[in-house]
Amino acid sequence: MSKRTCLAIVLAAGEGTRMRSMRPKVLHQVAGRSLLGHVLAAVRAAGTEQAAVVVGPDSAAVAEETKRALPKSQIFVQSERRGTAHAVLCARKAFAKGADDVLVIFGDTPLISADTLKRLRGAIDHHASVAVLGFRPKSAAGYGRLIMNGHRLVAIREEKDASEAERAIDLCNGGLMALRGEVALEILERIDNANAKREFYLTDAVTIADTMALEAVALETTEDEVHGINTRAQLAQAEAVMQQRLRAAALEAGVTMIAPETVFLSADTKFGRDVTIEPNVVFGPGCVIADNALIHAFCHLEGAHVGKGASVGPFARLRPGATLGAKSRVGNFVEVKAAELGEGAKANHLAYIGDGLVGEGANIGAGTIFCNYDGKNKHRTEVGKGAFIGSNSALVAPVKVGADAYVGSGSVITDDVPAGALALGRGRQVNKTGWKAKGSGPKKTAKKAAVKKAKAKKKR
Ligand code: UD1
Ligand code: CA
Repeated sequence: MSKRTCLAIVLAAGEGTRMRSMRPKVLHQVAGRSLLGHVLAAVRAAGTEQAAVVVGPDSAAVAEETKRALPKSQIFVQSERRGTAHAVLCARKAFAKGADDVLVIFGDTPLISADTLKRLRGAIDHHASVAVLGFRPKSAAGYGRLIMNGHRLVAIREEKDASEAERAIDLCNGGLMALRGEVALEILERIDNANAKREFYLTDAVTIADTMALEAVALETTEDEVHGINTRAQLAQAEAVMQQRLRAAALEAGVTMIAPETVFLSADTKFGRDVTIEPNVVFGPGCVIADNALIHAFCHLEGAHVGKGASVGPFARLRPGATLGAKSRVGNFVEVKAAELGEGAKANHLAYIGDGLVGEGANIGAGTIFCNYDGKNKHRTEVGKGAFIGSNSALVAPVKVGADAYVGSGSVITDDVPAGALALGRGRQVNKTGWKAKGSGPKKTAKKAAVKKAKAKKKR
C-alpha cells in the first residue's frame, strides 16, 4: 500500500432496537471481541491508526471501546439520526487534517476484512473518486441497488426509491464506501434529503460524483463480508462465519485440531507451532498457546498463557492471569487463576490455584486449594521450587511454602513453611482398639427402629 493517509469514519449511531438489549449494538461480541472492535481491527490492519467514530447520544461505553481498540481515534456524536451522509458529516472536523482517502464503514459489519478495505483504497489511489463495495446477496430485499453503466457506477438506488426494473438488479450496496479526500467534503455537502425516507443518503455521493465528472466504481465482495448485524440471529450467524475463519487460520498456521468444528476461538487467540487441541475446547479472549502445547478435551481458557510443551486438562479451566511454564501440567478439573506455574510444575486432579506462584518442578497434589480470599481481600500463595503439596491440603493465603518443602496430605497450612521442611497441619489420627467388640453395632439398629417408628406415626 502507498503512503497515502486515510481517514476511516465508522458509523455507530444506530440504536440496535432489534437486538432487544440494554447494550449498544456495536458492543455485542463475535469471537470474544465487540463488533466495533472487529471493524477497528480491520481499519488498523488496513494501515490506519485512527478512526472517527460517530456514535449516538449517551454512548460513553462505545467511546470507551473505541479508545481501547484504536487509542488515537476521535468520537463524534450524532444527536439525531438523519441518514448515513448526515452521520458522516457529524465527523466533519476530522476532515480538517486533509486525508488522501476517506473510508466510510458501518460499525455493525464485523466480518469486513482489511484486504477489502485496502482494495477500496486502492481504487481511489488508482483513478476513482468514489469506490463502493458491492455484493450479490441471496435475497436483495432492503438493500440499495448498484446502477452500472459499463464499468462506471452511476447511481445507488435505495429500495424504497427504486423502480421495478432497478429492483431486479442483483448487485447490491454493501454499505462501505471510499472517497477521494480532496473532493469528499464537497461531495458530501451537496447531498440532500429529497427521497422516500427524508434522510441524507451517503449513497447519493455516487450520482453527485457523476455530475461533477468524477469517476465512481464498484468493487465486489462476498455476502459474508458485508453481513450486517441487526438481530441476535444475525449475531450468531456472524459468529459461525468468524469461527470458521479462525479455525481455518489456526489449521493453516500449524495447529492440530481433531474436531475443529467443536473448538471455539477468540479473534486474538495466538498459537505457536505444533499445538494440539482436542475436541470441545473454548478459548476466550487473551490466550497465547506456545509451541507443542497440548490442550486436552473440554477445557475452558481465558486470558491464559500456556508455555511450550505444557499440557492442560481434560476438563481444566484457566482463568485470566493463568501462566503455565514450559512442560508444566494441569490435570483434570483443575482451575488456575492469576497464578504462575513454573517449568515442569504439576497441578493434579481438582486443585484450585488462585493468586500465586508455583515454583519450577513443584507438585500440587489432588484436591489442594489455594485459599486466596478471606471474604474481603485476595492474598497470594507462593510454593517454592520442587516443593510437594500433599493431596487435599488447604494453603491459607498469604502464605509461603519454601523450596523442596513437603506438606503432608490434608494439611491446613496457615504459617510459612521453611525450605526443605515437612509441614503437618492436621488432626492426629486416633485408633481406638476393640471398638466393634465393645458393642457399638446395636446402636445403629436402635436408631433405624426409631426412624421406622417416626415414619409410621406420620402416616397415621
Ligand atoms: C444502507 C445503505 C444501503 C445498503 C445497506 C447495506 C444508505 C443510504 N443505504 O442501508 O444502500 O444496501 O446499508 O447494509 O447508506 N447510521 C447512523 N446514523 C444515521 C443513519 C445510519 O449512524 O443517521 C448508521 C447505522 O447505525 C448503521 C449504518 O449507518 O450502522 C447504516 O444505516 P442503516 O439505516 O442500517 O442503512 P440501511 O437502510 O441498511
Ligand atoms: Ca442496515
